[in-house]
Amino acid sequence: MPAKDTMFYLVILHANVLLGVSAGVVGLALTYAKVLTGGFQWCVRQSAEVESLMTSVERVQEYTRLDQETQPNDQTVDVPKDWPKYGIITAEGLYYAHHNTLPYVLRKMNFCIRAQEKVGVVGRTGAGKSSMIAALFRLAEPEGNVRIDAIPITAISLNDLRSNMSIIPQDPVLFSGSIRRNLDPFNQYDDSGLWNALQEVQLKETVSELPDGLDTKLTEGGSNFSVGQRQLVCLARAILKHDKILIIDEATANVDHSTDALIQETIRTKFKCCTVLTIAHRLNTIMDSDRVMVLDEGKLVEFEEPYLLLQNKDSLFSNMVEHTSQHLRTNLYETARQAYNSRHERNGDGELDTCRKWSNAEATTVEQERELEPQQQEADNEDGFDDVLAMVRGSSSLEKEKLLLESTA
Ligand SMILES: Nc1ncnc2c1ncn2[C@@H]1O[C@H](COP(=O)(O)OP(=O)(O)OP(=O)(O)O)[C@@H](O)[C@H]1O
Ligand SMILES: [Mg+2]
Repeated sequence: MPAKDTMFYLVILHANVLLGVSAGVVGLALTYAKVLTGGFQWCVRQSAEVESLMTSVERVQEYTRLDQETQPNDQTVDVPKDWPKYGIITAEGLYYAHHNTLPYVLRKMNFCIRAQEKVGVVGRTGAGKSSMIAALFRLAEPEGNVRIDAIPITAISLNDLRSNMSIIPQDPVLFSGSIRRNLDPFNQYDDSGLWNALQEVQLKETVSELPDGLDTKLTEGGSNFSVGQRQLVCLARAILKHDKILIIDEATANVDHSTDALIQETIRTKFKCCTVLTIAHRLNTIMDSDRVMVLDEGKLVEFEEPYLLLQNKDSLFSNMVEHTSQHLRTNLYETARQAYNSRHERNGDGELDTCRKWSNAEATTVEQERELEPQQQEADNEDGFDDVLAMVRGSSSLEKEKLLLESTA
């Protein structure tokens, strides 16, 4: 006889003989006690589970109390349909903090990125490279004057701003839903367009082998695709949209060399006429860029052609290249030299297209007028924040840029 049954009969016997309680009543009481114990255990387990699940409710409540960003369609300025037509990005006295309670992570940044320019962005970890992208997409409101094709980004609705620039983030997230919806969320393109874009990024075969092709459902966050494949889907989406501005945040950090080469090649051919900002971890991806931005502790410290930066042995960029292996360094120098020569040969022959010619002239005008070359920023005193903002507010070159834009349009 099992031990618990023995115990059960012993208790009944004991209560019956010593306490004079009828055996039936004791048996009934014990049976209920046993059932109740199970019931109590279930209650405790359930209440512990409810408590842990209620953290999700708490989190949702917390989110509802967050400060709302400006409404996506809270339009202040009507942008032309084809905006941005050139992809000229200018920043004057750009200060950026991820939240108004946090310190600035970008300070006193001034630059002018020309139309169709390929700009590499480098800097140590935490230098503010991704924050610069966050400022361009207005994840928090930047201070200072940032304009795209002469229109201040703070005057544009978030919808217009964000839908007119393409980004390939470092850790791309795909939405739960079909591949079709991830490539074309607003149903703007036909199937042949989608397949072409997938072919450009060599994903056509992978997708066509999936059970439902373009309609195959992706799991949450796109976790049934590798990080590299997710980046390729983002690239395919960018190819479809073909915005004038493409931003790649460390697109090559997570992918193998052949995917990296594919992404770089696709960008060079497909985005030839676009402004491309590449935040690079591997120097070889940006050595043939038109110019390189070097960020340090939230400041733009160098912004020049890579070959010219390499001529200055004291530049941060030279320093970064010096820290690579001998073989890689030689390759980097060679790539920068060849890119410099071919760029200047081209320019010497007068083969720059009209848009680029104009944008070069425009950039020079803006830089000369404000005398805000990056090198000069360092000479400015730290307290010059108000001065810079005052200069930005008082500037008349905005209208001039608009006139220039209109005259070229
Ligand atoms: N979402 C955020 N909220 C608050 N602070 C942030 C946020 N993202 C970045 N920061 C801070 O901003 C500073 C710059 O970070 P950022 O991510 O721009 O650097 P990064 O140059 O992109 O670095 P990495 O090369 O590692 O990607 C860091 O000090 C970081 O702590
Ligand atoms: Mg980053």
